[in-house]
Amino acid sequence: MMLPSGSAGARILSFGGHQPSNVVTNEDLAEKIDTTDEWIQSRVGIAERRVAGPEESLQDMATAAGGKALAASGLEAGDIDLVVVATCTPETPIPNISATVADRMGIASPGAFDVNAACAGFCYALSVAADAVRAGSARHVLVIGAEKLSQWLDWTDRTTCVIFADGAGAAVVGPSETPAIGPVVWGSAGDKHEAISIASRDTYLTQQGQTVFRWATTQLNAAANDALDRAGVSPQDLAAFVPHQANLRIVESLARKLGATDAVVARDIVTAGNTSAASIPLALSRMLERGEIASGGKVLILGFGAGLTYAAQVIEVP
Ligand code: UT7
Repeated sequence: MMLPSGSAGARILSFGGHQPSNVVTNEDLAEKIDTTDEWIQSRVGIAERRVAGPEESLQDMATAAGGKALAASGLEAGDIDLVVVATCTPETPIPNISATVADRMGIASPGAFDVNAACAGFCYALSVAADAVRAGSARHVLVIGAEKLSQWLDWTDRTTCVIFADGAGAAVVGPSETPAIGPVVWGSAGDKHEAISIASRDTYLTQQGQTVFRWATTQLNAAANDALDRAGVSPQDLAAFVPHQANLRIVESLARKLGATDAVVARDIVTAGNTSAASIPLALSRMLERGEIASGGKVLILGFGAGLTYAAQVIEVP
């Protein structure tokens, strides 16, 4: 048996992000449900979020973000041979999103599969993409995190509808002489599977907020530190820290314990809300657009959410 030779390492060549145009402010929500801007800002850190209308599907958002990442990579559609979409909010369970998105982008017959690790999904998908490139199973991979959470929310449930939002973020992964996507540290806590769930097709997303909050602020710094150790990177080397944008208080707690004094910390949740698998690539694409992270900067990413699942790795940004 022969094996493909692959590549010494893998790197992210480009990012792309997409948000629906419809902005929903806290005041908009307070007109319909028993909540206040003060409560949402102080407890969650969100000022506004984007919500897709019925005319914009999950596939539309994933295709838009994927298209931007592909254009920024300088590659052609035909150069992509694997498409992986991380999502936990497909409109239907069959078919998967990735094959449809690839077809709409003009990517001819790539490998195509979806990943469901909820808000950790992008980090899982990125790890699989990097391994595929290193092993030679793919040369260029389009990784997308996309969510239309709004279709799974009860818009009268103030404990969830003020938090979650819609959007997509994407990255193109390709071969590299030197590794620029570090080893993943991933894990799960399936004993807490009920903490975030959509229990049946007729119900909505529910969340035991405090259970998840406690878990995130007590268990995940170990995974973050482990990812740094395995990449041989110290907190002081980091240009940025981009954790999943679940709650600004969780972001601040993780960042404080990490002690990465020179790192820019992603606070994209303030204007993007919690977009689950899209939050990390969306935050990164917006930070890069604003010039907040220099090319080649080392960034620690940390995804966590339903499952419960988590994953962390160090990347170098394009
Ligand atoms: O992305 C997936 C991963 N998810 C997470 O990481 C989420 C982690 N958890 C959280 O972010 C927070 O737990 C929440 C934002 C979900 C909730 O914040 P909290 O500070 O834990 O609030 P709580 O659930 O303890 O609720 C405190 C109070 C309750 O009222 P009582 O029982 O004290 O009278 C709630 O009913 O706040 C009330 N409340 C609200 N009040 C105004 C809950 N939601 C709202 C609201 N507006 N939207």
